[in-house]
Amino acid sequence: MEALKKIAGVTAAQYVTDGMTIGLGTGSTAYYFVEEIGRRVKEEGLNVLGVTTSSVTTKQAQSLGIPLTSIDNIDSIDLTVDGADEVDQDFNGIKGGGAALLMEKIVATPTKEYIWVVDESKLVKHLGAFKLPVEVVQYGAERLFRVFEKAGYHPAFRQKGGQRLITDMQNYIIDLDLGCIENPQALGQKLDQTVGVVEHGLFNGMVDKVIVAGHDGVQVLSAPKQ
Ligand code: 5RP
Repeated sequence: MEALKKIAGVTAAQYVTDGMTIGLGTGSTAYYFVEEIGRRVKEEGLNVLGVTTSSVTTKQAQSLGIPLTSIDNIDSIDLTVDGADEVDQDFNGIKGGGAALLMEKIVATPTKEYIWVVDESKLVKHLGAFKLPVEVVQYGAERLFRVFEKAGYHPAFRQKGGQRLITDMQNYIIDLDLGCIENPQALGQKLDQTVGVVEHGLFNGMVDKVIVAGHDGVQVLSAPKQ
């Protein structure tokens, strides 16, 4: 599996050219993309400006000498490469397994070419076997949790080291165990309208390409133009 992740990440780095502003994703697959960009910066003198999607990726990029800028300094990003937890046939996806979904969606939104790197196990018919991460502000989180319980979403606060995980943006994550999400758009809209929810891990119709590494090779799936 690790080898497949590396293939996907390194393949995505081939889409990066000199002068680009690039979004650097988070997770164990995006890790290999960032490593390859770092290698190209060092060995090939690749000239890029990175925008990171988590404190973990910021540290990795800094250690590799990739020049970084703040999302606040730019109006658009040429290309972002990130991982995903599940991808369905309509190019909807679940992200946030690494708790970085808010920063990831903020970076994805002004991106011209948005690419996911996954191994073949991430392709699914229906989203939802992977628990849907929802980032919520701390104030009122217990009440929101009960709202999710009543809705039958089977919520659980994400834990880290025996305590509630706190995201880079100082929020909690509530993971929803939904089993099968019949209508990702409808659920996404419902969560968008729920006060106290900062962001959710449904990335519906946002991705342009999915690079899938499998035992039979690499496939590049292109989403139909919107
Ligand atoms: C982090 C993410 C990751 O991109 C997603 O969880 C996939 O990670 P991995 O490549 O380690 O399976 O959304 O918030």
